Amino acid sequence: MTDFTAQLATDADQCADMLDMIFNAQSMQAPRLVDAMRYAVLNGGKRMRAGLVLGAARLAATESDASTYIDSRALRVAAALECLHAYSLIHDDLPAMDDADTRRGKSSCHIAYDEATAILAGDALQTLAFEILADDATHPDPAVRVALVTTLARASGLAGMAGGQMLDLQAETRTLTLAETEQMQMMKTGALIVCAASCGALVGEASSTLVNAIVAYADKLGLAFQIADDLLDYDGDSDGMGKPVGQDAIKGKASFVTLMGVAKAKTEATSLVDNAQMALAPWQDAAAYLRALAGFAVARRS
Ligand code: IPE
Ligand code: IPE
Ligand code: MG
Ligand code: MG
Ligand code: MG
Repeated sequence: MTDFTAQLATDADQCADMLDMIFNAQSMQAPRLVDAMRYAVLNGGKRMRAGLVLGAARLAATESDASTYIDSRALRVAAALECLHAYSLIHDDLPAMDDADTRRGKSSCHIAYDEATAILAGDALQTLAFEILADDATHPDPAVRVALVTTLARASGLAGMAGGQMLDLQAETRTLTLAETEQMQMMKTGALIVCAASCGALVGEASSTLVNAIVAYADKLGLAFQIADDLLDYDGDSDGMGKPVGQDAIKGKASFVTLMGVAKAKTEATSLVDNAQMALAPWQDAAAYLRALAGFAVARRS
């Protein structure tokens, strides 16, 4: 676990350096917008999606001995995923959505700037994510770049994060079944987590057997991660979380916690993590980081 914590910290730092480099190369015509984008994406966060990209790419590299060039390409993909994720958080916090004033221990983007700037920062972070993936520095093979772009588009749009956020908001006024809740969670959160792992495998040129195992792993992890988030909203503390807690119950959000209670939700999350880890068992030590990351996703307190 200590190895994992140190590696995730290194991954987070390297991802932040890559983001900084990408921003330094951006147009400075609208400095307030660049400031707001940097504020939202270069402000900590667990960098779990970056860790997933890098962990999957490193695992793939063990198959092909490609580790010499994997790092900078995978770091660009990690940066793209974190831009897309930061956009989803900015919009999620807006008054029209969850109306949350804090994020990552600071004022949410729309509080630190204003709503219009926050909306634009989200928009521009989203398009920046695709720009990064489409750039030939990310991968020399255009077919790989198209696959990365398509994977991120599907995971973040109608059938993924944006669609899931719609279902989440509609569920505030309608009780969902367990199956509907699972579908909503998989779309709003799971899709981007599966996408991070898949894109890591893609950029690392993983074999199809490994891609399938990584997707199976991330599929379980994605759901476990959102159950953990819902549990932390129930019993976490806002200082540790860096965002408001107790809001899901007030807003009537659909979650595994409200549907099955705390104890069963915890058991469900643990069993999903076990299954996620099992999917990568054949890769033994090479997959130790990804297996530890799955454990971290539910053991975390922030
Ligand atoms: C929060 O994601 C939003 C959800 C999908 C539940 P994280 O808990 O990964 O947030 P950061 O990136 O660490 O701030
Ligand atoms: C949102 O889920 C997931 C996103 C797509 C951003 P939540 O609304 O529960 O995320 P938090 O708790 O605000 O981070
Ligand atoms: Mg929300
Ligand atoms: Mg929220
Ligand atoms: Mg939440």
